[in-house]
Amino acid sequence: MYISLPLQYFRSLASTLATALPRSWRRATVLVAMLLLAACGEPSTGPTQSAAPAAENTPTAFNTSLNMKDFMNLVLDPAADVLWDSAGWVDSRETGYEELYPTTDEQWDYVRRHAALLIEIGNMLALPGRAVDNDAWLTYANGLSQAGALAMEAAALQNKEDFFQAGAQLYSVCTACHQAYNPEITSKFATN
Ligand code: HEC
Repeated sequence: MYISLPLQYFRSLASTLATALPRSWRRATVLVAMLLLAACGEPSTGPTQSAAPAAENTPTAFNTSLNMKDFMNLVLDPAADVLWDSAGWVDSRETGYEELYPTTDEQWDYVRRHAALLIEIGNMLALPGRAVDNDAWLTYANGLSQAGALAMEAAALQNKEDFFQAGAQLYSVCTACHQAYNPEITSKFATN
């Protein structure tokens, strides 16, 4: 029930929560609303309407059998961990000061791949049959994709500071959605 987050994120979290996210989320809400409107407004006539088997065009075409708990533990959490474990620094008595950022092109590619995954995992959360509602849930799912996109861009440029911020934004999205949909989930800060 715990999300573990490397300790180094603690320092930037309060400010991220207070400033960056609510603004971008409001934008996301408007976007989602516009997309929904566009989708509803599409003409319902056409060759696909009568002939095609219903299953091909309805939400049941997606396999959403993975339950939310498994989705979180097996799909989302591992991808997010790759990002969080590759950002910031730790300073421990045993090992001293240690930067966690990738140091080679290969390592940056590795985190970039996982950032791309997070963009798509946001979409997976929004799938009909998995999305819990068509409202705030979609905003949070979209927020995940946005944070993934920021991380991907930062990784491509090997920009440590932006990469760190993307990780903080990612964490804020996790926390916000959990607070909204499952307040029993406690987020904790821990080195893992
Ligand atoms: C769109 C909403 C949403 C977002 C975004 C979200 N979660 Fe979740 N998460 C949930 C819900 C709902 C549950 C409760 C699932 C259940 O127990 O049925 C959950 C549960 C969890 C759990 C506990 C699973 C268990 O074993 O009980 C973990 C761990 C988790 N989420 C990690 C994350 C991480 C990490 C992120 C961000 C990278 C994240 N989640 C983002 C909705 C979300």
